[in-house]
Amino acid sequence: MSSPWLQARHAEHPPLREAQSFDVAVIGGGIAGMTTALLLKRTGATVAVLEADRVASGATGHNTAKATALQSTMYSTIRRHRGTEAAQVYAAASAAGVEEIARLAGPSEAQRRPAYTFAVDESGAQAVEQEIDAAREAGLPVVADELSELPFPVTAAARLDDQIEFDPVRHTRALAGQVDGEGCAVFERTRALRLTEGSPCQIDTDGGTLTADRVVVATHAPVWDRGLYFARLEVQRSYCIAARLREEPPRGLSITAGEPIRSLRPRGDQLVVCGEGHETGKHASGDDPYSRLEAFAREHWSVADITHRWSAQDLVPTDRFPMVGRYLPRSSRLFVATGFMKWGLTGGTFAGKVLADLLNSDENPWSEALSPARLSPGSSWLHLARHNLSAGADFVADRLAPATATDVRELRPGTAAVIREGADRTGVYRDEEGLLHCVSMRCTHLGCLVRFNSAETTWDCPCHGSRFAVDGTVLEGPAVRPLPAKPPPRPPG
Ligand SMILES: Cc1cc2nc3c(=O)[nH]c(=O)nc-3n(C[C@H](O)[C@H](O)[C@H](O)COP(=O)(O)OP(=O)(O)OC[C@H]3O[C@@H](n4cnc5c(N)ncnc54)[C@H](O)[C@@H]3O)c2cc1C
Ligand code: FES
Repeated sequence: MSSPWLQARHAEHPPLREAQSFDVAVIGGGIAGMTTALLLKRTGATVAVLEADRVASGATGHNTAKATALQSTMYSTIRRHRGTEAAQVYAAASAAGVEEIARLAGPSEAQRRPAYTFAVDESGAQAVEQEIDAAREAGLPVVADELSELPFPVTAAARLDDQIEFDPVRHTRALAGQVDGEGCAVFERTRALRLTEGSPCQIDTDGGTLTADRVVVATHAPVWDRGLYFARLEVQRSYCIAARLREEPPRGLSITAGEPIRSLRPRGDQLVVCGEGHETGKHASGDDPYSRLEAFAREHWSVADITHRWSAQDLVPTDRFPMVGRYLPRSSRLFVATGFMKWGLTGGTFAGKVLADLLNSDENPWSEALSPARLSPGSSWLHLARHNLSAGADFVADRLAPATATDVRELRPGTAAVIREGADRTGVYRDEEGLLHCVSMRCTHLGCLVRFNSAETTWDCPCHGSRFAVDGTVLEGPAVRPLPAKPPPRPPG
C-alpha cells in the first residue's frame, strides 16, 4: 500500500560501500534531512546523507502533501501549552517553511491554494473561532470563511490564502539530486546502526563507516536514546485514501477542527482523504480505518474508484512543539530535528533552515523556542507523565496478556497470532501462500512486546512506535535492528 507520490520513478543513489569522511553527515533522507543537507551544502560544507531505504520513502512519502501554515487547531494548542510567544515563533517558522518549499520547488511544482480549518458542529465552530483568534495573534492573516465548496453543511471555517499543494516525493528527491555531487553525496539503502560522538563523529552503517565533524539526526524518531527523546514523543498513526471522483474535487486544502479528523486535498481528478488516527501499536484487531475514510468519501462525493491507500505515523512532543537543535544541551557535534506533529513538510523545511543556521553561524531567531533542551511549562509535565505511565503499562500488560492462539495449524492465511510456549512468545503470521513467518515479539528498541496491525500487516510497538514487517525487518525506528526470526512453535499435544 503506497501513496500516489511514491509510484513515480526517480533517480536512485548508490549505497555506502567504503569508509568516507565529510564535514557533516545527515542521517535520514526525508524532507527534514534533505532540506538541511542542501542548505548546508550551499554554505560550502561537504555533506553526506545516509538513508536506510529510498529518499522520501518514510513519512515524507506518505502524507496529505499540503504545505500550509494553517494547521487545524495548531495555534490554539500551542498557545495553551507554551504561550503566545511560542505560537508566534511557530507561525513565522511555518510561513517561512511554506515559502522555502515554494522557492526550492519552483512555481510549476508548488500550486497555490487556500487552506481551511472547518467544523461541522457547534463545538467545532467554537474551536474554529478560537483558532482564528490564536492564529491572528500569532501573526497570520487568517480570516473567517463559509467554505461553500464542501458538499455538506459547515458550521464555521478559517481560511489562509496562498498555501501550497505539491508532490513531496518529487520535491525531496529533487533536493537529493542537488545535494549529490561536488564533494557531497547521498547514500540510499544505507542504515546507520551506531553513532559515536567524537572528533570526528563515527557512524557505523550496514555498508561501512562514515566519519564527520558534525551529525544531524533526521531519522523521524531519533534513533539514539541519549536525551530520552522517546519518552517525550507520542507516536500517532493515521490513514489515507485517494478517491477518483466523477465530479470536480474541492480545490482547497481543508481539515476538520476536531474529531473525527478529515484532512482533504485535490490531486487532479482525485480527492485525498486522511484521518482515523490512533497511537501506534494500539490498532484494534480487525479494525479497518480505510473503510471509514472510503464511506466518508462515498457519502459526500460521486466516487468512481479508490486508487490508493496508505498510512504513516508522526511524532507529537508531549509539550506540543517541534524539537530542532542540539541533540543534547552541551553537544556541539550532534543535532536533531523531530516532533513535527503531523505537519513536518513545513516543519521539516523550517528545521532545515534552523539547522543550517546553527551549524553555520550558531544563530537563528527560532532556535531557542525549538531547542530540545527547553524547559516545558507545567501542563506538559502532566502529558509527559501520562504518556510514560501508558508506555510502562503497555510494557507490563502485554507480558500478562494471554496468547491469541495455541496451535499454528489453526492460523488462516493472511492472519497473525501470538503463540506462547512457557514464558516465551512468538509472533506468527501466515501469508496468503500459507507460509509461516515467526518472529520474536520483543521490540529491539527497549523490549516492549510488539502487536499485530491487521490494517497494515505489520508488527507495531505500542511503547515508542517502532514498526516491523512480518519477517522482522525494521520499517520505522527508533529500533534499528530487526525482530529476530524464530522457528515455528510446536503444535500442542
Ligand atoms: C497521515 C499523515 C498526513 C500528513 N500530512 C501532512 C501534510 O499534509 N503536511 C505536512 O506538513 N505534514 C504532513 N504530515 C507530516 C509529515 O509527513 C512528517 O512530519 C514529515 O514527513 C517528517 O519528515 P522527516 O524528514 O522528519 O521524516 P521522514 O520522512 O520519515 O524521514 C526520515 C528518514 O530517515 C530514514 N531513517 C530512519 N532510521 C534510519 C537509520 N537508522 N539510518 C538511515 N536512515 C534512517 C527513514 O528511512 C526515513 O526516510 C502528515 C503525517 C501523517 C502521518
Ligand atoms: S519502540 Fe521503544 S520499546 Fe519498542
